[in-house]
Amino acid sequence: MKYIVATSRGPISHDRIGEKSIVRSNVGGVARALSSVMTERGGTWVCWGDGHLDEKYPEENYSGYKISRIFLNKNEKLGFYDNYSNSVLWPLFHYFRDKIYFAQHSYDLYKEVNRKFANAIAKEVQPGDRIWIHDYQLALVPKMIKDLGLKNFVIFSWHIPWVASEFFSILPESTYFLESVNSADLITFHTSWYVQNYETACENILNVNPSNKKKVMAVPLGVDFKYYSHEPVKRNVWQDKRTKLIFSIDRLDYTKGLSDKVRAIEALLRKHPDTRKQFTYVMIVTPSRYSVSEYQEMRREIEMLVGRINGLYSDLYWYPIIYMYRRIPQELLLQYYRSADIALITPLIDGLNLVCKEFASATKKGIVILSEFAGAAIDLHGALIVNPYDIDSTADAIYKALTMSEEEKSNHLREMKKDVRTKDIHWWLSKILSRSDRLDRESRE
Ligand code: G6P
Repeated sequence: MKYIVATSRGPISHDRIGEKSIVRSNVGGVARALSSVMTERGGTWVCWGDGHLDEKYPEENYSGYKISRIFLNKNEKLGFYDNYSNSVLWPLFHYFRDKIYFAQHSYDLYKEVNRKFANAIAKEVQPGDRIWIHDYQLALVPKMIKDLGLKNFVIFSWHIPWVASEFFSILPESTYFLESVNSADLITFHTSWYVQNYETACENILNVNPSNKKKVMAVPLGVDFKYYSHEPVKRNVWQDKRTKLIFSIDRLDYTKGLSDKVRAIEALLRKHPDTRKQFTYVMIVTPSRYSVSEYQEMRREIEMLVGRINGLYSDLYWYPIIYMYRRIPQELLLQYYRSADIALITPLIDGLNLVCKEFASATKKGIVILSEFAGAAIDLHGALIVNPYDIDSTADAIYKALTMSEEEKSNHLREMKKDVRTKDIHWWLSKILSRSDRLDRESRE
């Protein structure tokens, strides 16, 4: 049996830097996990060909499986990606009511693009293959697959939060949306909160009692522990022995609480002046969704704030925040993980957050400060949990981490490692694949 996987972003894309063609790998955690299944079992990965040179590669064989790309024109990209996925679904499923913008026709274009995905899947699939669809960009695909008469087992994995039913009802298309997700044979979320919200929505909106609980499961995605903990790094990226390194890396997104983090650093310096010159905060923000206006404004806001705080506290020999707006290669990221004393991971809300798990796997000495509103907070014991809206308490948690005794630190570290080691990426995969094996078998009996 092989897998037909569908995600909006593909495992690799073909791009151009100046005159040079490059192959860019998707380093996200979901892509990593799926790549390993695909390489092991073979099959087809259906995705959007959004790289500048992807049109040259509508289909290609890569790492033991086939990539099949669908292409969008400007209008389809605007309606599917910028508008419906990122200006309706993304803010809706993160409780940002005032950022939801219902542009005309965007749902129709979202539907059209989902149909392109469904047709591409239908072209690839053979009887007995398993179809695995991912995330909010492709929520209408499960029902479209069923409506095409395909009998294959369909898994749908949701990677962002699922909001409370009353909030979800804001979506004008909530019924169709839910009907489609619920037509999958197995639906996975990262936490049991999201499962509860999903099931309540089914009861309230569809009048369906998801009595078959086996069909909906909470299983948090893990990371490749072995890679992060064992992979050798070439150098220690942080050479300044006088100061401790506080590190964060986030996509530029309003859900990530970027300005609140910077304000927490300001509060730390104000409340605990003894921390001056004792730390440096390296804040990496990776460009994201720059065609959506909301994201462009955010960049200006954060850069002004960093400038203001550096202006207040820097001198010729020290400044509190080193801010970088760019993508960094995986190897350099690992060097930061190994060098940092503290990882500051404080999203306002996050479906899971893999950075904290990657850091916890990689570090030999560091402490994670983690938002209670990240899905990962449920099982990353040993992290210092904070409410990111409470700036002063976040500052106090940073202070605690900066001044923690070696013994206390190693206790935290031990706790954190236990969870990321056992619930790693292979655990996540095997949980989902074995549940789907069982349900598939039962449905045939
Ligand atoms: C989140 C979503 C993914 C998405 C990623 C990057 O992690 O769950 O589905 O691919 O953000 O966003 P982008 O808009 O660049 O695909």
